[in-house]
Amino acid sequence: MPAKRAAKSKPAPRGASKSKDKIRIFDTTLRDGEQSPGCAMDRFQKVQLGLQLEKLGVDIIEAGFPIASNDEFEAVRDVAKAVKKSTVAGLSRSAREDIDRCWEAVRHAKKPRIHTFIATSDIHLKYKLKMNRAELLKEVAASVRHARKLCKDVEWSAEDATRSDWDFLAESVKIAIAEGATTINLPDTVGYTVPTEFRQFWENIFEKIPAYEGVVFSAHCHNDLGLAIANSIVAVECGVRQVECTINGIGERAGNASLEEFVMALHTRRDILDFKSGVKSKEIYPTSRLLTSMTGVPVQQNKAIVGKNAFAHEAGIHQHGVISKAITYEIMTPQSVGRPSNTLVLGKHSGRAGLRQRYEQLGFKMNREAISAIYLRFIELADRKKEIYDEDLIALLQENRAGAGESYYELDALQVTSSTGTKPGSMATVHLREGEEVQTKVGKGNGPVDAVLDAINLIVGNRSRLVDFSVNSVTQGRDALAEVNLLVEFEDGAQMAGHSTSLDTVEAAAKAFVAAVNKYKLTQEMKKKAPKSRKGKKPPEGLRGV
Ligand code: KIV
Ligand code: ZN
Repeated sequence: MPAKRAAKSKPAPRGASKSKDKIRIFDTTLRDGEQSPGCAMDRFQKVQLGLQLEKLGVDIIEAGFPIASNDEFEAVRDVAKAVKKSTVAGLSRSAREDIDRCWEAVRHAKKPRIHTFIATSDIHLKYKLKMNRAELLKEVAASVRHARKLCKDVEWSAEDATRSDWDFLAESVKIAIAEGATTINLPDTVGYTVPTEFRQFWENIFEKIPAYEGVVFSAHCHNDLGLAIANSIVAVECGVRQVECTINGIGERAGNASLEEFVMALHTRRDILDFKSGVKSKEIYPTSRLLTSMTGVPVQQNKAIVGKNAFAHEAGIHQHGVISKAITYEIMTPQSVGRPSNTLVLGKHSGRAGLRQRYEQLGFKMNREAISAIYLRFIELADRKKEIYDEDLIALLQENRAGAGESYYELDALQVTSSTGTKPGSMATVHLREGEEVQTKVGKGNGPVDAVLDAINLIVGNRSRLVDFSVNSVTQGRDALAEVNLLVEFEDGAQMAGHSTSLDTVEAAAKAFVAAVNKYKLTQEMKKKAPKSRKGKKPPEGLRGV
C-alpha cells in the first residue's frame, strides 16, 4: 500500500459548501436511469427504491419528470410523500407549465427541489430549441425566477454544457444564480468530454464565476466514452460539491456515472481524494440488487463493485495471494459494500428466529410479519436445495419485494415436454391463477421456454415479443437458483421487464414473464384511470433526449 500522499490537485473551496470536503450525492436512478431501455418502474417500485436510496444515504433523489405523463407525476408525488430525510427533486424543462407541474409533484416532500434545465450549446440552440443566444438568456432568467417563486431549492442545469461556448455558458450561469438558483449543474450530456478538458472547463467556470454563498456546483456525466467516473472525480477536484449518478450506472445510452463506483473511489482512495459522502457503503449491494430485481435488467458480470465477478479471484496466483492476505489483490472488501459472503448459512431445520437473525446480519431489518411471509418460501427452497447461501436469501427477499406491487396473474403450475428432432420441439401446459380462477392452456415452441411463454400469451390474450432474455446462476453448483431477467415488448410498443428466481430455469422464465405481463396490465389500468385531459398524453418533445 503506498504511503499516504497529499492530494495532488488541491480541491478548491468552491460551491460555498459548509464542510468543504462533503460531496452531495444526487441520485437520478428514478429519472435519468429510468430512461434506459427496460428500466421503467411503476410508482410502487419507485417508492420502494426511493426509500432504499434514502437508507443508502443519498442527499438528493431525483424522482422523475412530472410533466411526462400522469403516471410519472403520481410516482414523483408518491416518492415525495414517502421520503423524509433526503431532498426529493423533480425535473422540468424551462416552460412555466412544466415547472408548475413539477412543483405540484414535489411540494409534498419534506425537502423539495425543482430541477429545471435548458440546453446552452449552439448545436441544441440551432437544431432543437430554434432560439438565439439572447432569447435563451431570457428563458434562463424567466424559468429560474418562476421556479424560485415556488420553491427555495432550485437547481438549474445547462444541458450539453460541455459542448457549449465557455463564455456564453458562464454568462448563462451568472443569470441563473442572479435569479436565485441554489445549485448549478453543468452536464456532459453526451459523454463527450475527457478528464483533461473537463478540468479546464471547471477551472474556467470558477475563474469567471466567484463563489456565491449558498450556491453549489454540480457535475452530471454520461458514460459514452467510459469516462463518467474519471470526469466526475476531476470535477470534485476542481471544486464541484454535488455529483449526479445512478445505481448500477443505468441511464440514457451508455448510462450515467455509477453511484457505487464514484462513492467507492472516494472511499478507497481517501488518501488522495480528500472528500466524503454521506453514503452508507454497506447499503450499496442491496440497493443494486433491488434495482435489478425490479427492472429485470442485469448488471454485467465484470461491473465494478456490484458485478458478480467484481470480487471473484480466478487465477491460482491471485487466489493464493488473497488466501494468505486479502490486501494482495483486494483494494476493498466485499463486506464494505454489503456483499454477502458465499458461506453456507441455513438449512431446512432453521427456524424463523435463525432466518431473521441472518437477515439482520446481512443488513435487512425485518419484522415478524415480513419474516413469516418469506419463511414458507425459504422452507420450500430448503426442501429442494441442500445448501442455502446468503445470496439465496437476498434473491428470496428481492423476489418477494419485486412482487409486492399489484399482481393480476400468478403461476399456479406448469408441465413441459421437450424433445430434439421433432416439430414443435416442446409443448407446455401452463396453469395461471387470476384471483380465484385458474386458467389452463397448452402452448408450443422451439424449446421449453418458448412453449411456456406461448401458453401464457394464450391465457392472457397478449401478442408480445421477447426482446431480451438472460439466465444467471445466483450461486454455484447444479442446485443453484436460476435468475431470469427478460424484456417483453407488447402490441402497443410498451416494453416491460420481468425478473424471477427459481431452482428450475423454466419456472423462473415463466414467473419473470408473468411479472412483465402484470406490470403491463397495471400500467394499462392506471392509464384507464388517468383523468381525460392527460390520458394518452405523449411525452413532451425532446423528453427522451435528456
Ligand atoms: O444529461 C443531461 O443533460 C441531463 C439534464 C437534464 C440534467 O440529464
Ligand atoms: Zn443526463
